[in-house]
Amino acid sequence: MYLHGTSKINAQGHLEIGGCDTTDLAQQFGTPLYIVDEALVRQRAREYVESFRASGLKFQVAYASKAFSVMAMCSIAEQEGLSLDVVSDGELYTALKAGFPAARIHFHGNNKTPEEINMALDANIGCFVVDNFNELYLLNALAADKGKRVNVLLRITPGVEAHTHDYISTGQTDSKFGFDLGNGTAYKAIQETAAQSNLELLGVHSHIGSQIFEVEGFAMAVDKVAGFAVQVRDELNVTFRVINLGGGFGIRYVEGDTPLPISQYVKAITDSIKTNFSAASYPLPEIWVEPGRSMVGDAGTTLYTVGTSKDIPGVRKYIAVDGGMSDNPRFALYESKYEAILANRANDPLEETVTIAGKLCESGDKLIMDLELPKAKSGDLLAVFCTGAYNYSMASNYNRVRRPAVVFVKDGAADVAVKRESLDDIIGNDVIPARLQTSAAR
Ligand code: LLP
Repeated sequence: MYLHGTSKINAQGHLEIGGCDTTDLAQQFGTPLYIVDEALVRQRAREYVESFRASGLKFQVAYASKAFSVMAMCSIAEQEGLSLDVVSDGELYTALKAGFPAARIHFHGNNKTPEEINMALDANIGCFVVDNFNELYLLNALAADKGKRVNVLLRITPGVEAHTHDYISTGQTDSKFGFDLGNGTAYKAIQETAAQSNLELLGVHSHIGSQIFEVEGFAMAVDKVAGFAVQVRDELNVTFRVINLGGGFGIRYVEGDTPLPISQYVKAITDSIKTNFSAASYPLPEIWVEPGRSMVGDAGTTLYTVGTSKDIPGVRKYIAVDGGMSDNPRFALYESKYEAILANRANDPLEETVTIAGKLCESGDKLIMDLELPKAKSGDLLAVFCTGAYNYSMASNYNRVRRPAVVFVKDGAADVAVKRESLDDIIGNDVIPARLQTSAAR
């Protein structure tokens, strides 16, 4: 059994996280429950910041809030000196309402609406990562309307394909994101940006994929970006002050996942920047990165209560829990793998191989295939590890299931960061037009 961060098995044989017995958490907050190990989140943030500090380069570590955007997480990011990457008005609003400094917010997205751009302009965010020509001209016009000049990075697709799941690689040429480097679009975008009077070009951005376990992809991206920077300087007399290399740093979900220590990814990137830019006598740019998954992924655990089971002799045994693809759609989307244990019987011998199913009306609503467990009974607690990233943030109300609460645990204290949705929340935005009302409601 692999335990992340402060997770351990206590004297009662229960899973404990942040000094809190998970059986107590289940009683106090109910299940399903997202539990966040605050000390581990802070440790990850510090690993990034300290590794960059050691490089001597100027930097910003922008937490990619899409991985897990809640106000409490924005507060932690602020306290740890991180910047923040947002991709929608909702993520921006979450950050601003949490008091996150606007100057450290970067706005991403391939289809920002005029309303979103105006909201970000009014908030005076630090930087827009411009994805395409429509946005470039729209942003310039909207900034001009407000008499503002705004910092921009241009998102380029460097043509580097990271070794990752097909659905989530974004660095290759066939991508909906960014200006393509290979076909001259990125070059044209630099010229166009320079011609806009309300845009201040800081540099370029590249994101090559997600859940990456090697440094080679990042080093290749740096090579390409540096080559482009030199060409642009020599031919257009434009110098990049910032290179943003996106996120994608992998984490250990299951045995066989072999992420590198954060310091190694950072060192590979910063070394490659120094080598490439020094060789061209280019002033060393600031390096920005946008880790999402690696900031919060292994700090999250989801606690479920076991309900029914179905044994199909010679085929498989299903164990159903009180959540499923509504709180974690990653198996249904990507066949993602997870490890789990019975949190209330963590020392019991493993007796059978089961498939964990959810309670949603869909055959693909599974969480884990072929998991070794003690014989699970109704009422046992199942803890699924590594659910901190892209779980709560991708949760839905399918079947009108209520989204779980989120608690942050640290040093024996458990604090609610998101309340469990109520049944009234479920119908909170519903309106029955008068002509459709049932006779009982009329
Ligand atoms: N920056 C940009 C521009 C991105 O598109 C992403 C992720 C990140 C940073 C953060 O990447 P990370 O460090 O988390 O790998 N829903 C998928 C992951 C989608 C990632 C989308 N972009 C999943 O559950 O695996």
